[in-house]
Amino acid sequence: MKIKNIFLSAILLPGVFACTTFKSTNLVKENINFAQTQLKYAIACTDTVLNSNKNHKLTNPRSVEKDGSLRVVGPHDWCSGFFPGSLWQMYAYTHDDYWKDQANKRTWPIEEMKMYKGTHDLGFILYSSFGKGYELTDNKDYKDVLLQAAKTLSMRFNPTVGAIRSWDFNRDKWQYPVIIDNMLNLELLFRATQETGDSIYYNIAVSHANVTLKNHFRNDYSSYHVINYDTITGKVLTKETAQGYNNASAWARGQAWGLYGFTMCYRFTKEPAYLAQAENITHFLFTNPNMPEDLIPYWDFNDPAIPNSPRDASAACIIASGLYELSGYVSPKKSTEYKALADKIVKNLSKHYRAKVGTSKGFLLLHSIGNYPKKDEIDVPISYADYFYMEALLRKDKIEKAGKLYNK
Ligand code: GLY
Repeated sequence: MKIKNIFLSAILLPGVFACTTFKSTNLVKENINFAQTQLKYAIACTDTVLNSNKNHKLTNPRSVEKDGSLRVVGPHDWCSGFFPGSLWQMYAYTHDDYWKDQANKRTWPIEEMKMYKGTHDLGFILYSSFGKGYELTDNKDYKDVLLQAAKTLSMRFNPTVGAIRSWDFNRDKWQYPVIIDNMLNLELLFRATQETGDSIYYNIAVSHANVTLKNHFRNDYSSYHVINYDTITGKVLTKETAQGYNNASAWARGQAWGLYGFTMCYRFTKEPAYLAQAENITHFLFTNPNMPEDLIPYWDFNDPAIPNSPRDASAACIIASGLYELSGYVSPKKSTEYKALADKIVKNLSKHYRAKVGTSKGFLLLHSIGNYPKKDEIDVPISYADYFYMEALLRKDKIEKAGKLYNK
């Protein structure tokens, strides 16, 4: 089977084999050095935009526009927390107060989102920023923001459906849309229960994960993007896509959110079904005939244009980071396989997808896809690719320095 070939080639690749013995490599160090220079340039590019746009509520960079200018977004954009999150991760690696100050400075402008009831993206926005900050500093002010955000997010939970509503737009099309991406927002809720002892957040997260497990997946463990529910009966009305090739396709980032999300849910619950789902998604990905040899997926596994179809580096980053965590929860044999796959992804991203220093407005990686059907952000650098790339590098480093499996 192809999965064996991919596993084998990942394990046997020179340099990767060293990682499977958990020796620290220079790959992390070299890429963090690159990221330090590049993130300083990103800060300068962002400040240029912020300083010339005093009338608009702009906060953090998201991507590069077709005309080469920087797309900087307001707090309500689902990507507003990733840039501060990358800066926090740089602080985690370097312990240099410069990065802490920069991260803090770019975290607070999105604080108002803790009260915003109009989206499910509060986890993306506030856990990647305030959450990373809280993990590193224990700052109670960050915790207060996170706990308010968890309260606000919980208000989007419908007990009849058993899940959190994702989007409020397209009400004529969807009665109650829940998207696979929403799995990532559950970390905020799990952490809120850990901090407060109030099980309400945990119970909502578990219900959401269970409903997603039941309805979002096909028999081959690929996932639909959008499930539209009936709010009176709680039943599924339609299974669709918004950002994928079509309703029956496997949108690459959606598969990545599922893998990462169920692995993270296993961390908090130790529910075997979540671990099994993360492994099943992994199996789907790495046995898929359309997974390229370098393991950086095409934007959708079912795009008929493959191999003349763009890659999505962001999906690869999310998969790699998820696999490093997953490698900490499985047998030694599987752990070695999953880590080798993640290593191969990180190595290829670092070698072939990196921006040149001082270009691309300071983003780290090129070649991501935002919304292909809408022709928005095609083959661009994007803030969440960088965030999960940094996270993958740090997880790899942690495993290799500890000389043992990752276990958060
Ligand atoms: N909404 C998250 C994504 O585009 O993947």
